[in-house]
Amino acid sequence: MIPFNRATVAPGQLDLVAEAFASGQLSGDGTFTRRASRTLSALHGGDSTVLLTTSCTAALEVAALLLELQPGDEVIVPSFTFVSSANAFALMGATIVFVDIERSSMNLSVDQVASVIGPRTRAIVAVNYGGWPSVTPELLELAATHDVVVIEDNAHGLFGHDGNVPLGTRSALSTLSFHETKNVTCGEGGALVINDLDLVERAEIIREKGTNRSRFFRGMVDKYTWIDVGSSYLLSDINAAVLCAQLEFHETVQARRREAAKQYLVELCDWADSIGVTMPHRDAPPGLPDHLFPLLFEGIDERTAFLAHTRQHGVATTFHYVPLHNSPAGERLGRAPLGCGNTVNISERLVRLPLFSDITEAEVGQIIEVVRSYRS
Ligand SMILES: Cc1ncc(COP(=O)(O)O)c(C=O)c1O
Repeated sequence: MIPFNRATVAPGQLDLVAEAFASGQLSGDGTFTRRASRTLSALHGGDSTVLLTTSCTAALEVAALLLELQPGDEVIVPSFTFVSSANAFALMGATIVFVDIERSSMNLSVDQVASVIGPRTRAIVAVNYGGWPSVTPELLELAATHDVVVIEDNAHGLFGHDGNVPLGTRSALSTLSFHETKNVTCGEGGALVINDLDLVERAEIIREKGTNRSRFFRGMVDKYTWIDVGSSYLLSDINAAVLCAQLEFHETVQARRREAAKQYLVELCDWADSIGVTMPHRDAPPGLPDHLFPLLFEGIDERTAFLAHTRQHGVATTFHYVPLHNSPAGERLGRAPLGCGNTVNISERLVRLPLFSDITEAEVGQIIEVVRSYRS
């Protein structure tokens, strides 16, 4: 069976782990954390402060704590996303206001945001689905008019660009994931990318259990103490060592993923047209990070049949995102005042093909053959 995902392995990653152990510094904010954070900052253009966290979920929680949410505060979140994009804010007491997505980009509908935004809105979570850019000038203008923070869930978007601007830099805060399914990974891991530098000091405190230990380590205060609420969000330096090796290897990773996605696009076009399958990559903007390769079937029955067909023929494909607005927690902790018809539609039609960093030409060829053999 060709798996849906095989985690990226970078040359030298175990050597760096050995170096971390030899140094005796294994907890967070050591040499490897600083090195990975610098690389990530450079990948974001150099002006952002990057704080490594234990996951993208944890980074979203730091962002939620920064908002100092009060009962009755609302956070706007697309229904078509991973649970953490909403859960992090519900956890801190916010009411989630779900909005629908656009069918073309699979990102949040700015028209719906404009209709639901109001005096109780504190933040908008913009998810870059598959690395399609979601933070548009219209969204930023709307947020600025209402004095609302834009938090960019960029779990899929590292290495992606909107024009020549790196994804994750147009908003005040953005978040990254280094889960094993992502282009670069350290098992579990994440980062908070801070573009509004006024937020750095408090974010550091929240990430360090509510203490000013980061300032203490930099010699800025002579002892550290409990300053604010927070939790334990630091990535260990063992994981950061793996992440350093993975980031150093990223050009190879991206080249291989780009090549596989290109091959899918070129070699599946005719088949897709012949059976009414849409390939979002066809109309995608340049600069995608090639995190995933979606296909959209005509309906759920076709999708179910296709998933079964590929599995029967040795290729693991999968669907993506069950809508959040009508999930048990989504109904209890949020509302979807305008409905989320596109979310339901896309979530019933979407299939992801295998796309991973060491996928071989032979595997890509076999996947294409199995896909094409569906209904032909
Ligand atoms: C859009 C989005 N946000 C957040 C997450 C959570 O990432 P993590 O597993 O690093 O917490 C995911 C997970 O895949 C995701 O797809």
